[in-house]
Amino acid sequence: MSKSSEDKELSEENVVAETTEDLQSTWKDAHRNWGHSLHRLAPYIGGFPPSLAHYFIRRFSKSGDTVLDPFSGGGTTPLEAALQNRNGYANDAFSYAYVLSKAKCNPLSTSEFEPYLDTKLDEARKVDNEEMRLLDNDDLKVFYSDHTLDQILRLREVLHEDDSRKATYLNGIMCGILHGPSKMYLSLQTKDTYSGTANYVRKYAKKNDLQRPERDIRPKALRKQELAHEDTVPASLGERTKITRGDSRNLLNSFEKESVDLIVTSPPYMQTLDYTWNNWIRLWWLNEDRKSERNKLDITEDTDKYRRFMRECLHSMYDVLAPDSVAVLIVGDVQKNLASGKRTLNTAAIIAEEARNRTDFDVHGIISDAYDLDSRAYVVFNRLKYDHEEDRKEKDAIDRCLILTKGDPDMQSDPDIDWETESYTGLEQNQ
Ligand SMILES: C[S@@+](CC[C@H](N)C(=O)[O-])C[C@H]1O[C@@H](n2cnc3c(N)ncnc32)[C@H](O)[C@@H]1O
Repeated sequence: MSKSSEDKELSEENVVAETTEDLQSTWKDAHRNWGHSLHRLAPYIGGFPPSLAHYFIRRFSKSGDTVLDPFSGGGTTPLEAALQNRNGYANDAFSYAYVLSKAKCNPLSTSEFEPYLDTKLDEARKVDNEEMRLLDNDDLKVFYSDHTLDQILRLREVLHEDDSRKATYLNGIMCGILHGPSKMYLSLQTKDTYSGTANYVRKYAKKNDLQRPERDIRPKALRKQELAHEDTVPASLGERTKITRGDSRNLLNSFEKESVDLIVTSPPYMQTLDYTWNNWIRLWWLNEDRKSERNKLDITEDTDKYRRFMRECLHSMYDVLAPDSVAVLIVGDVQKNLASGKRTLNTAAIIAEEARNRTDFDVHGIISDAYDLDSRAYVVFNRLKYDHEEDRKEKDAIDRCLILTKGDPDMQSDPDIDWETESYTGLEQNQ
């Protein structure tokens, strides 16, 4: 790296001091599992907690408003918005994110789901599996017994290229039970819910003497359905949501100009995570090619490229936002190896600088979110992935909530939320 660009990165530290108003937030008072049971339909590494989305939705929008997440991941923001009587809009470039966001926001009731599941399992039993036998499924066989894999392969064949609401929901359920660390899942007991490499899982299974269980899809899928519906699901949820798949530099392709009242989002932070690797089995399930999926995502370590990417995203967000509105961007600090040694890059400050100097947004402030890092899925993921103390990349990192304004919105103060009694569905509140 040249001296000048390294200097430029170093100067980014100062931006925080200039732009940060010491904003307050109470969302961290929420208990760890706060949130509607549908949020837990299937895992999404790198996601933020429902309480965080809930907090900003309560603070900066009212009932009937439209809330957008242009990098929706597991769909936390659109689901939370719809549960709170807002319209929940979402976009993501990644297929798994799209399917999961859509499934969560358009759930099937158990009286719809159970007969649908049975019909599909019946169709699956009749699939001619001669061709499947010839496929190289060696990596999958590390996770599944022949009995279970046969069911998975057949059902996958039946759902292939079906993007109806029902099939999408079943795909969401399947992504939630494919593999994981308990008897709830179809696989042998993996260390976590991310898709480990076959090699890693092979060694892990050997070390812990784990056997591949003979499990059936039906009871596991019904149990997942039951858990997802532990909290009441409002009937009109799906009507209030719109989920699209695309590059968030072009939001106007999917959303009307000035149609959004609030953005709550967490854009990618450089190369912190490769969503395609840690979801490779889910991508296989969805019949998506890992490499072409990866090419769609913005994964770069280069700060200049990242700045350009974020600048284009900011312009795109500005276009869809209504006059006098707010955008909240949650980003983590990133560890970088510079010639001068390791240092932490303040991603929020970089985006704030781009927003202030290169777009029409104003920077209202940054909330530094120095909460318990151990509860963050991506931190846990990196520990598992590398399994070495010294590779804990995010050790000193913190998350920051950057608040941008378009025009002159009425900036609400910190809402007084009692997280012990706060409703998951917004039915009891008039906001
Ligand atoms: C930090 S995650 C968002 C997590 C989300 N807030 C949640 O709670 O699950 C960032 C997301 O950005 C998506 N992404 C990366 N590049 C993108 C692009 N160019 N356009 C749209 N989405 C993109 C990734 O697929 C990923 O889901």
